[in-house]
Amino acid sequence: MKKLLLLFILTIFILCTVQSCNTGQQKNEADSANFLEENVTFAAAQYALLLDKVEDSARIVNPKSFIDGKMKYIPPQEWTSGFFPGSLWYLYELTGEDQWKPMAVKYTESLDTIQYYTGNHDVGFMIYCSYGNGLRLTGNEAYKDVIINAAKSLSTRYIPEAGIIQSWNANPSKDWECPVIIDNMMNLELMFEATKLSGDSSFYHIAVTHADNTIKNHYRPDYSTWHVIDYSKSDGSIRHRNTHQGYSDESAWARGQSWGVYGYIVCYRETKDQKYLDQAEKALNFIAYHPNYPEDGVPYWDYNSPDIPNTYRDASAGSILASALYELSAYSDKMDYKAWADKIVASLAGTAYRAPLGDNGDFLLMHSVGSLPHHSEVDVPLNYADYYFLEALKRKKDLE
Ligand code: GLY
Repeated sequence: MKKLLLLFILTIFILCTVQSCNTGQQKNEADSANFLEENVTFAAAQYALLLDKVEDSARIVNPKSFIDGKMKYIPPQEWTSGFFPGSLWYLYELTGEDQWKPMAVKYTESLDTIQYYTGNHDVGFMIYCSYGNGLRLTGNEAYKDVIINAAKSLSTRYIPEAGIIQSWNANPSKDWECPVIIDNMMNLELMFEATKLSGDSSFYHIAVTHADNTIKNHYRPDYSTWHVIDYSKSDGSIRHRNTHQGYSDESAWARGQSWGVYGYIVCYRETKDQKYLDQAEKALNFIAYHPNYPEDGVPYWDYNSPDIPNTYRDASAGSILASALYELSAYSDKMDYKAWADKIVASLAGTAYRAPLGDNGDFLLMHSVGSLPHHSEVDVPLNYADYYFLEALKRKKDLE
């Protein structure tokens, strides 16, 4: 009898525990679904206002920021031109509403000439965020050619002696012969895609050679990264290690750290080469354990700014990092990368960073930094902070 009673109590205990676990899990899922829905609803409403403004113009304009009460529009050749069309694609995907599609198509196709642009390395950003998302969501055959042409244009900047894609043209005033910036890791996704679309492995080869040399030359022993490495075009040796947008040559510019992490996660996705995953995780350790990495997960503009905590955050460095972490969470459980990404996204979605509806020039996030040393775009909205925030929301939704 006693045994039966014990068994009965044990069964009730197990059933209650399972039930409360289920209820807890259901509550978490519901909270997360509400969080996503609220953010997507807000983003759609805010970008509808932005789109109204943009569409009001007599010609096609491309919004980058809102500074001192004025909209900043940019031409197709500016490095951020792919982000506004890319955000429209993410809104089309996240809302499931058809009205976004013609707008995404219109602003994507306004970048038509960029597939032939060879003036700098940014063709990857410009074409892949716009046409790349367009291809993924519509399968439009014509977009394949654009991506292949853009990869050909980017390939013209490949310098075999150094095994890298040259980012910017030579700059005699800085004594730069062949400057390569860590941001360039973000252009490799276009190259991988172009090989898949065309069967031409030269794009893939350039991408992995660039990634390998960036591991070798751009990263410090603590796995932070320099911003600019200037190579010799004749023998590939390193001429300078500098910064352009960071606090100093030896500091860790926050967005650069995020670009590097994101880029190596893409390289791992496309090659399954363990060394790229290792590189991303080591670079993430630098961030995770850095004494200046703030509790809310949104970095200061440079990890080594002497003014921390009385200096600017860079929401863009946070949204890029969050999006990368969501992808990484599917490849590795060395850390709870998803929880880390969730923390950043929750911060960005809070009142400290997310703008009120109709405010902030109708961009989503406040408080990004373009280039503090140049006093340019400091503590303002930036179209790429929004783009990676939307991408992070999409990746979070996919994971859940
Ligand atoms: N790729 C330029 C920047 O991150 O500011």
